[in-house]
Amino acid sequence: MSVRLKLTFSYAGFLLLAGAALIAVVWVFLLRYVPAEAITLGRAPGDGRGQAGLFIPGRSDLWNAFAPKAALMLALLLVVGLVGGWILAGRMLAPLRRITAATRAAGRGDLSHRIELEGRRDEFRELADSFDSMLARLEAQNAEQQRFAANASHELRTPLAITQTLLEVARNDPDRDSAELVERLHAVNARAIELTEALLTLSRADQRSFNRERVDLSLVAEEAVEELLPLAQKRAVSIELSGEAAPTTGSQPLLLQLVTNLVHNAIVHNLPHGGTVRVATAAGAQGVEVTVENTGEELAPELLATLTEPFRRGTERIHTDQAGLGLGLAIAKSIVGAHDGTLTLAARPGGGLRATARFPAAPAP
Ligand SMILES: Nc1ncnc2c1ncn2[C@@H]1O[C@H](COP(=O)(O)OP(=O)(O)O)[C@@H](O)[C@H]1O
Ligand SMILES: [Mg+2]
Repeated sequence: MSVRLKLTFSYAGFLLLAGAALIAVVWVFLLRYVPAEAITLGRAPGDGRGQAGLFIPGRSDLWNAFAPKAALMLALLLVVGLVGGWILAGRMLAPLRRITAATRAAGRGDLSHRIELEGRRDEFRELADSFDSMLARLEAQNAEQQRFAANASHELRTPLAITQTLLEVARNDPDRDSAELVERLHAVNARAIELTEALLTLSRADQRSFNRERVDLSLVAEEAVEELLPLAQKRAVSIELSGEAAPTTGSQPLLLQLVTNLVHNAIVHNLPHGGTVRVATAAGAQGVEVTVENTGEELAPELLATLTEPFRRGTERIHTDQAGLGLGLAIAKSIVGAHDGTLTLAARPGGGLRATARFPAAPAP
């Protein structure tokens, strides 16, 4: 039985019940002024017929007059209740039909459909609005994933296309120096592997499928800095490391990857010469954090929000050999998100970037 029918019967039932109760009350009230038996006044005892007297009806007379009218009233109420209930229930449930239609459309894969229920803020409106915002989120996520897949395919195709070109050149010109070819193929292949591994890291962090353990961010920072020291020296960038123990819970390899990405960026996106990088850890009541700061070019504030998008690189050096993969900050953001933390990027006054990753503190051992 449909909800509309149920509501209709409930309306009609209540109306009937209220009507019956009202009639019953009236009846009881009337009874108090009506004698049990009919009385005829003004007729002398023994008088013959034909002499009119005052007739006072008794209860049974009253009942006979009252019952048919009451029954008619109730029947009328039933009809009004059913018809009115049907119309009212239809109007009440109309938003539900629109919401159902929208869920069906979403189920078929149409995420662009919105309910856009108008009118006062009631329960239906709230349901419709939250459904709409869920659809909007899904649609945005979907678009982001499509963009990501397109970008990833494009990025993966590049090394393959370069390989193809190198191989074609070698085939057309067999006398060429093969050592150089091997060297270049090796470099291109290494980059493809690096890219694939970065993509794997990204999906692993997004799926949150990793073991959690107690990790001290200050040790992680130390390890990352040590690993990148040769690169920093090559670029004439000095690194300062400071801070206190900052224990949190998570995956050591992923957190190391995070700090490595941040420090790597701080080195390669630094001043061409004589830049500095400052890595610091801190622990407080709110949680623990690691901050990586570097000197460098002035960054436009509106650019900052987009840097964590996959395959987003800053303006310079996009198509040179030196260009990064554009995944470093996307991976950093995913790793931080998977650890219930926040990643904040801020432009430093005077140039360069300050990246801060905050995490919940590990419970005391
Ligand atoms: N520490 C930093 N200082 C200045 N710019 C940065 C820094 N880190 C990242 N960026 C900018 O953000 C972009 C995206 O960084 P990332 O995702 O690591 O990609 P990649 O380093 O491979 O280019 C970089 O291309 C760069 O323009
Ligand atoms: Mg990078």
